[in-house]
Amino acid sequence: MMKDDLDRILLTEEEIQNRVREMGREISRDYAGKNPLFVGVLKGCFVFMADLMRSVEVPASVDFMVVSSYGKGVKTSGAVAIIKDLSQDIEGRDVVIVEDILDTGVTLSYLTRYLQNRRPASLTIATLLDKPERRRADVDARYVGFTVPDYFVVGYGLDYAEKYRNLPYIGILKPSVYS
Ligand code: PRP
Repeated sequence: MMKDDLDRILLTEEEIQNRVREMGREISRDYAGKNPLFVGVLKGCFVFMADLMRSVEVPASVDFMVVSSYGKGVKTSGAVAIIKDLSQDIEGRDVVIVEDILDTGVTLSYLTRYLQNRRPASLTIATLLDKPERRRADVDARYVGFTVPDYFVVGYGLDYAEKYRNLPYIGILKPSVYS
């Protein structure tokens, strides 16, 4: 079982669901009278985004991007490749970037600049997890679900070698699994 690969559970399904609902309410208040466009950064975002969207009570649209950081794990270059771009124009739109985790910040710092060039009316970030200890690039996330220490976390969209994304909670992976 996947659970056997975990040291322990960091965030239970209930804790995540409660917090995501709160984030949805907060976004609904902030975007009252607007029609925000949620931009998910695949693949990690998809579980969080599906739950978050259903807690948002203003009319919202969705789109997705696929990006890839060069030298993942080391991330020395700070360069990010756009594998799949948005399928619509965002000029004048209220855009909310949705991420599962803000780690070094390289991805979101690049993406923010990239999308800002297209002149959206506003651009904010909603991330489920924030690992500030690892930050290398400046990123300002308006909505943060949980601030977490520098553990190897998996589940609820987050993977190790494409596994564990389907866990309904977030766990800390045993070092023996990845070392
Ligand atoms: C993760 C996460 C962010 C990025 C954050 O994606 O979804 O996009 O890393 O890291 P950073 O702050 O250090 O840039 P990953 O590249 O693991 O791809 P995935 O979403 O397909 O799992």
